[in-house]
Amino acid sequence: MSTAGFLLLFLISASLVQAQRRIDFISIDCGSPSKLYEDSDTNITYSPDNNFIDTGINQNISSEYMYPNNPNLPLPLSDLRSFPQGNKNCYTLKPEAGKGNLNLIRASFLYGNYDGENRLPEFDLYLDVNFWSAVTFGNASEIVTKEIVGFAQSDVINICLLNIGLGTPFISALELRPLNSSIYKTKFGTNASLVLFKRLDIGSSNGTGRYADDVYDRVWSNYMSPSWDSVSTSSPIITYEDGYRVPYEVIKTAARPRNGSEPLELYWNTTDLNAQFYVYMYFSEVEHLERNQSRKFNISWNGSPLFGPFIPRYLKADIISNSKALVGEDHRISIYKVENSTLPPILNAFEIYKVMQLVESPTYSEDVDAIMNVRTTYQIKKTWAGDPCAPKNFSWEGLKCNYTVSFPRIISLNLTSSSLSGIIAPSIAKLSSLESLDLSNNNLTGPVPEFLEELKSLKTLNLKGNQLSGFVPNFLMERSEAGLLGLSVDSQNLCGSDPCKKAKKIVAPLVGSLLSALVALIVLILVWKLRRKRKSATEGETFKKKGIPIASKKCQFTYDEVVEITKNFETEIGKGGFGAVYHGYMKDGTQVAVKMLSPSSTQGPREFQTEAELLMRIHHRNLASFIGYCDDADNLALIYEYMANGNLKQYLSDKSSSMTWKLRLRIAIDAAQGLEYLHHGCKPPIVHRDVKTANILLSENLDAKIADFGLSKVFSNDNETDVETTVLGTAGYLDPEYYSSHKLNEKSDVYGFGVVLLELITGQPAVIRSDERIHIVEWVSPQLQKGDIASVVDPRMEGDFDVNSISFRNRERNSGLTEESGDTFASAYTSSPYNSSMYTDSTNVDSMTEPFPR
Ligand SMILES: *[C@@H]1O[C@H](CO)[C@@H](O)[C@H](O)[C@H]1NC(C)=O
Ligand SMILES: *[C@@H]1O[C@H](CO)[C@@H](O)[C@H](O)[C@H]1NC(C)=O
Ligand SMILES: *[C@@H]1O[C@H](CO)[C@@H](O)[C@H](O)[C@H]1NC(C)=O
Ligand SMILES: *[C@@H]1O[C@H](CO)[C@@H](O)[C@H](O)[C@H]1NC(C)=O
Ligand SMILES: *[C@@H]1O[C@H](CO)[C@@H](O)[C@H](O)[C@H]1NC(C)=O
Ligand SMILES: *[C@@H]1O[C@H](CO)[C@@H](O)[C@H](O)[C@H]1NC(C)=O
Ligand SMILES: *[C@@H]1O[C@H](CO)[C@@H](O)[C@H](O)[C@H]1NC(C)=O
Ligand SMILES: *[C@@H]1O[C@H](CO)[C@@H](O)[C@H](O)[C@H]1NC(C)=O
Ligand SMILES: *[C@@H]1O[C@H](CO)[C@@H](O)[C@H](O)[C@H]1NC(C)=O
Ligand SMILES: *[C@@H]1O[C@H](CO)[C@@H](O)[C@H](O)[C@H]1NC(C)=O
Ligand SMILES: *[C@@H]1O[C@H](CO)[C@@H](O)[C@H](O)[C@H]1NC(C)=O
Ligand SMILES: *[C@@H]1O[C@H](CO)[C@@H](O)[C@H](O)[C@H]1NC(C)=O
Repeated sequence: MSTAGFLLLFLISASLVQAQRRIDFISIDCGSPSKLYEDSDTNITYSPDNNFIDTGINQNISSEYMYPNNPNLPLPLSDLRSFPQGNKNCYTLKPEAGKGNLNLIRASFLYGNYDGENRLPEFDLYLDVNFWSAVTFGNASEIVTKEIVGFAQSDVINICLLNIGLGTPFISALELRPLNSSIYKTKFGTNASLVLFKRLDIGSSNGTGRYADDVYDRVWSNYMSPSWDSVSTSSPIITYEDGYRVPYEVIKTAARPRNGSEPLELYWNTTDLNAQFYVYMYFSEVEHLERNQSRKFNISWNGSPLFGPFIPRYLKADIISNSKALVGEDHRISIYKVENSTLPPILNAFEIYKVMQLVESPTYSEDVDAIMNVRTTYQIKKTWAGDPCAPKNFSWEGLKCNYTVSFPRIISLNLTSSSLSGIIAPSIAKLSSLESLDLSNNNLTGPVPEFLEELKSLKTLNLKGNQLSGFVPNFLMERSEAGLLGLSVDSQNLCGSDPCKKAKKIVAPLVGSLLSALVALIVLILVWKLRRKRKSATEGETFKKKGIPIASKKCQFTYDEVVEITKNFETEIGKGGFGAVYHGYMKDGTQVAVKMLSPSSTQGPREFQTEAELLMRIHHRNLASFIGYCDDADNLALIYEYMANGNLKQYLSDKSSSMTWKLRLRIAIDAAQGLEYLHHGCKPPIVHRDVKTANILLSENLDAKIADFGLSKVFSNDNETDVETTVLGTAGYLDPEYYSSHKLNEKSDVYGFGVVLLELITGQPAVIRSDERIHIVEWVSPQLQKGDIASVVDPRMEGDFDVNSISFRNRERNSGLTEESGDTFASAYTSSPYNSSMYTDSTNVDSMTEPFPR
């Protein structure tokens, strides 16, 4: 390849590097006001630090250390973040390459008398749980830079500043550069990091030292000894054969001893007897040698051979490193020519690193996950940064840990007077070594949870000064009485055992014998008509067309997000068979209802997810919109649009609401259309299994929408028939045929819908509680037999209805849709309103002008 070709290649790779370096670099200007900017010295984009840390305060260095007094001040160093609060503050970085990747991390500090105290602080710098370096200053204008090369031990990297009592820690800039993981090898593998000791660009005496063509943005110091001569080239050098990618600016210059027979030597020393060093030496022949010339040399360390003989290649970079760590106080590297080499040795660049072994263990990971969860759940406003327990003596405020185990365990959690609100977080129970738990003087609500039983080592529990309700679980009382647990609770809770716990709830289905004779109430004719009319064109088709899988990630929420949406379950707006329902807000302000599901489902999370995603593809104006779901370990949640007017059951029972006959009809039709869509618009059909007024929701404009459709399928277990009937129906709405045969089809929903219609007409609940519990069908039947319709109609309508629009009909067997359901059918239907075009919605008019067959 010609030189020009090489040059072109070089330029291309250099520009690729330029484009690439901005993406995965993390460059933080600590203490900067929240704005990204490009540093004109380096063309690197710096971000403010608010996304990486939430403690500390922004400060500016004092003006005497700034421009124009200090024209060479790098822009990111003019401000800083200081940490007067907490003994450990950490920046949390999440590099894209994640766990196991090798990274270079550089922290910069410039005191600049930012606090006007003129007192130089001293503090410690930690990488995750391991000591990295002490930070000390010679004067207020000194820029102290600490650099380390190490493998990410997890997906997040914590850079921590520890207050050791010698002044307030601060930091000016923090940078992370991902490296090729195959470089800077040591015998410790991933168990050690390398702290930069020196990085020298040899033979050069000008230039900035931070070269745009260094893909890893290393900073090189120029170094030249008076006894050396400089040699250099302007020809391109191949530097990309190995992962080190030494920059051209650095490799193109070299030094050789002025006295050709002397060795080229480098010295360094340390006070640390046990310090272990690794050196990386960069060589490339930059002089074109004549046929009779040769350059060949050996390398030794403190007189003992390290490497050689070696001949540097012409215009190609090579790296030589030691395979065993260099240990000791004094170090001398000598590069000396072999006897018959005609030219002296050269050296182009040199790096020295000190080994930092990763000796400290992080906290036991399950404890970490649990306490992180507690932190997000309660938005703890303490300096809880980095690892919860490590390093020793720097655990989080309120935590005590046991360090005599291979991974430290959390044994005490004290969150007294910490403004906690919401329920007692289940994640606390995952701190399985916990011996002491103090949650006193907060605003916690809800019950004293059963899951505290999982804390087998608990010796102290303080829940005083909260708004907890219910009973103290038995096992806590027992352990307290046995003297194994120091228990403090507010006395109104001290009721001991929970009487409800043992008494099994028996849901006696209120299905009398009369019912089986009277059987289903039907408006299916309407539904059936609708269906016939639309079969070819409407939702059925739309559903199939829209059946493209949506991006499920978008609709899947983590438990933490659910906690955020519901503000840690602040407002409970209802309770259903599957669990409680909470009010919440999405990030965009949309109001939602979040239904938490008890995880006792017999189906695995996979089925739940499949089902939830299916439901998300179902759209109909009369079905409550499904916004998303959470399927996070034991936490299952469904997120629906929020319906301002609650459910029909509440709305009907509200004595103050006077529902007109028109409104009742409109709700009936809305619900029927929703059901029809589930039965005939969806393939395979969806049987709701729990059609009832409580599952019909009303929007702000009183449009009715069916909720909880399709859920029953997820939570059913068709082999356990006992369970099925109690779990899957609601007394009063249960189709007697389904109840006796356990054979389920759409008609079971129609029965439930019939009961809903009766409730709409009469304003009575499905099960009327007078002296004894009477089913609504039993209640209307005697009146209807007498032909006295007016007496069952809701008196709140004050006679404002057309009696002809209500009729209860007998139907013959096998005369239509409900082939085998029984003898007598009471059917409420409406005739006149349909012709009176009282609705303005044209689709409704369209679907309702069709008269009923008689
Ligand atoms: C920064 O970018 C400008 C314009 O793109 C360029 O002229 C300059 O050389 C770059 N500086 C560095 C240090 O890369
Ligand atoms: C630091 O200086 C900038 C302008 O130079 C100013 O906007 C900012 O408010 C200052 N910050 C502090 C903490 O004084
Ligand atoms: C501060 O210390 C640095 C490094 O030790 C030194 O180069 C510089 O001259 C000192 N500046 C002053 C003003 O003493
Ligand atoms: C790193 O540490 C682990 C656990 O202590 C050990 O099993 C492994 O052999 C170590 N690797 C090296 C290269 O020393
Ligand atoms: C650096 O110094 C060399 C001579 O040692 C000179 O050729 C080169 O132009 C200088 N570069 C700059 C950027 O000043
Ligand atoms: C890392 O360097 C090696 C050569 O040492 C190279 O083969 C590999 O492709 C490099 N990896 C990346 C991600 O650049
Ligand atoms: C070069 O070094 C050798 C060996 O150290 C010495 O004998 C010789 O005098 C030196 N030459 C010069 C010119 O200094
Ligand atoms: C390190 O070497 C320098 C001279 O090179 C000497 O002045 C200094 O005392 C040495 N320090 C130690 C700790 O040996
Ligand atoms: C240098 O000497 C060695 C033997 O000591 C020999 O093998 C080698 O070929 C010689 N090299 C040159 C360039 O003369
Ligand atoms: C720490 O854990 C060890 C091992 O489980 C146990 O023996 C010791 O008692 C614990 N120490 C404390 C203070 O809990
Ligand atoms: C929790 O901390 C408070 C003071 O912050 C203290 O009074 C209380 O005794 C601690 N609780 C436990 C169980 O140690
Ligand atoms: C509990 O919350 C109420 C209002 O939300 C507040 O006034 C009260 O101070 C809180 N109590 C505690 C102990 O945080």
